Amino acid sequence: MSDQVKFLLSEKDIPGHWVNLLPDLPGDPVPPLHPGTKEPVGPDDLAGLFPMTLIEQEVSAEPEVEIPEPVRDAYGLWRPTPLYRARRLEKALGTPAHIYYKYEGTSPAGSHKPNTAVAQAYENARAGIRKLATETGAGQWGSALAFACSLFGLECEVFMVGSSYDQKPYRRSMMETWGATAHRSPSDLTDAGRAQAEHTTGSLGIAISEAVEVAAKNPDTNYSLGSVLNHVMLHQTVIGQEAILQMELAGERPDVVIGCVGGGSNFAGLTFPFVRQVLRGDAQMRFVAAEPAACPTLTRGVYRYDFGDTVGMTPLLPMYTLGHDFVPPPVHAGGLRYHGDAPMVCGLVRAGVVEARAYRQNETFAAAVEFARHEGIIPGPEPAHAIRAVFEEAEAARQADQPRVILFGLSGHGHFDLSAYDAYLAGTLEDPEFSEEDMAAALARLPEAPALS
Ligand SMILES: Cc1ncc(COP(=O)(O)O)c(C=O)c1O
Repeated sequence: MSDQVKFLLSEKDIPGHWVNLLPDLPGDPVPPLHPGTKEPVGPDDLAGLFPMTLIEQEVSAEPEVEIPEPVRDAYGLWRPTPLYRARRLEKALGTPAHIYYKYEGTSPAGSHKPNTAVAQAYENARAGIRKLATETGAGQWGSALAFACSLFGLECEVFMVGSSYDQKPYRRSMMETWGATAHRSPSDLTDAGRAQAEHTTGSLGIAISEAVEVAAKNPDTNYSLGSVLNHVMLHQTVIGQEAILQMELAGERPDVVIGCVGGGSNFAGLTFPFVRQVLRGDAQMRFVAAEPAACPTLTRGVYRYDFGDTVGMTPLLPMYTLGHDFVPPPVHAGGLRYHGDAPMVCGLVRAGVVEARAYRQNETFAAAVEFARHEGIIPGPEPAHAIRAVFEEAEAARQADQPRVILFGLSGHGHFDLSAYDAYLAGTLEDPEFSEEDMAAALARLPEAPALS
């Protein structure tokens, strides 16, 4: 069928392994550092927060890691996810480009986040842990982990960034439906939350500090992170592996692969299997990471060691950062309001393999609305950033009158983000300014650590 729009796989095509890009990354490995000794962290340093099997995945040098059968079984609830060709959008944009998108919004929680949530809940349950504590921005990660904990019999406690807690009350209802408890962050339940009470909108960094504190103080509780760490990138690579098969079904290869970046996990999940082909010399492709202009980590941050959280409880991670206590303005793409990014994604930006671009809130919603009017799906505010970048690529192809195959990650739907769409449609959506002054002040407070090359 020449005008096919959906490229579908069957359950037997759910990948049997995850792709570990660590051994293929260019340059020497840059390890996370212990915040006290400034020495590389060892497995024991992380054992209070994570089960050993996840720590092993975090540092694994194996190019492929087998997916445990119970996790693959759980993936069967929604995977493989569909790949679409955006034929109607192509026509509306008058572009010769072919635009494809891999849609992760068909998962129970509505995004890519359950891909790692089920893997993490499974390993923690197997290790005899009773409860997982975590943070959530827009509520996507919190609801994914709540869902995953319900599958594997774990309790789940979620610290939700204050601005999102107020904007997205039904995300809390979802978490509670799956049996989790959700708190507005900063809360008065932790030392970290009490210390940050003046930042009433909250931030991912503050919420992480609260969840890490709960896990560190309770032996039967572990911490679970929805992005940034290597094992999270690893779990998400089911997305790109399926996309490779689906692009083969479509008979095309992408020229450019685009994703939004908050902590980097959906971007890594879609791109890393393709990046590996490029790093091994088997393909040529560009990769574009899209982020908010209000929180421009990859485009404006410095490449340094910094804490993953605001209070300074985590190891020092090598990454682009705006400073661990920089509190980004409250844009609706709550999942992109993070001061740092995954070290693996940052390393690829540093090496010039991945290009980063930043977009303002109104231009991303304009792209999302146009997308919805032609393709039907209402995108989450986070992947709306990727769509903005797709529009640029499609326009460049039109101006050059060149065919171009664009693949992007539609990491989730926006059904719980309709207040943001309301504001956009009413013309009241703001483009909050990123504060140079606040960033400079936060960068002045970066921890002492060896310089990165
Ligand atoms: C739908 C969606 N996309 C993207 C992100 C950003 O996170 P990451 O960069 O880890 O994919 C989030 C975070 O909550 C999200 O909910």
